[in-house]
Amino acid sequence: MAFVNENYLKLPGSYLFSEIARRERQFRSENPDCDIIKMGIGDVTKPLSSAVVEAMHQAVDEMSGQKTFRGYGPEQGYEFLIEKIIAHDFTPRGVKLSVDEVFVSDGAKTDTANFQELFGVDTVFAVTDPVYPVYVDSNVMAGRTGLYNQEKGQYDRIVYLPCNVQNGLKPALPDVKVDLIYLCYPNNPTGMTLSKDELKTWVDYARNNRAIILFDAAYEAFIREDGVPHSIFEIEGAREVAVEFRSFSKTAGFTGTRCAYTIVPQEVMVYDSNGQAHSLNKLWLRRQTTKFNGVSYPVQAAAAAVFSEAGQRQIKETIDYYMANAAIIREGLENAGYTVFGGINAPYIWLKTPGQTGSWEFFDKLMREAHVIGTPGAGFGASGEGFFRLTAFNTKENTEKAIERIKTRLS
Ligand code: MLT
Repeated sequence: MAFVNENYLKLPGSYLFSEIARRERQFRSENPDCDIIKMGIGDVTKPLSSAVVEAMHQAVDEMSGQKTFRGYGPEQGYEFLIEKIIAHDFTPRGVKLSVDEVFVSDGAKTDTANFQELFGVDTVFAVTDPVYPVYVDSNVMAGRTGLYNQEKGQYDRIVYLPCNVQNGLKPALPDVKVDLIYLCYPNNPTGMTLSKDELKTWVDYARNNRAIILFDAAYEAFIREDGVPHSIFEIEGAREVAVEFRSFSKTAGFTGTRCAYTIVPQEVMVYDSNGQAHSLNKLWLRRQTTKFNGVSYPVQAAAAAVFSEAGQRQIKETIDYYMANAAIIREGLENAGYTVFGGINAPYIWLKTPGQTGSWEFFDKLMREAHVIGTPGAGFGASGEGFFRLTAFNTKENTEKAIERIKTRLS
């Protein structure tokens, strides 16, 4: 008899975005002619840029030539891509990285979910609340949490750092000692950012407590304001205590193409029960070489083209387009009397639901009355209850239409 990993039984029946898709499917089947506008899952809608597509075509042609064909690539990623990543995304910000500190992968979701494998099961970890559910669920699966407490809407043995209106949606340092901290900035779901000084308090905390920060910077390309750190490695001392996750998904429209990378500096250490230090970089390499055979050559060639002059220009145009949508949502909702956050340095707008309306109640109302799909804040954690997330990843026309419907159709 095969026994189940009982940690899986602690999880809610379905992943947040699967549940949203299920409700949408049901509504569509009951209302087949309905023109639904999707502003739920943060999935891009603009196609890949021409620079990227050309590079991918060329790489596919190479794969068909006897002399240019490539089999397994390096698990960590091709150097031609890693060198471009370092030169474009880090060197100009004063961050020095070596090639063996960058690990190319098929997604930041995969990496943020897998990285916890390197830590002991008794590791105490903290997450902001609300939070991208992958950090929580992957730790639940690994047995690092207790049971789900229905009443609290939280798992036992997770340190939650509430982000609410009172603290400006910025988490306070934990009041108990933690070993591992997940931070995502610009934030999914709230769209908020931390300043360099604010991020420094986290790096200092980690250095003083031998903790490690898993920093998700998947939305870095959407930062518009000066003084907002693009990388945690812009903060002094971060190389000792931080790992950073980056992605081409939202930056360059790769949600369906899949390419991302993770930075693990040589200095970051984890400790065994005898207090002996071990290199996290070496452990991640060990893990990846065992479980992963790298991203396909055409996809890495396409990702490298993001850094060409044309590629940079084209992705900037697309990001500007999405951020113009973010402004339409933000301003439109503010004019309609909603309290809104985010949308300035991120493609997410976090709004307070009217009165005492619950997040899922607002989801259903928005879907049924305005035919707009968003994401209930409660799906990101207990502190998300009473909030709702909209994404800027749609056409300008649909974004305007959605805001108009919210203003005029909601009773
Ligand atoms: C989201 O909507 O939060 C993201 O698209 C999910 C993801 O990137 O996996």
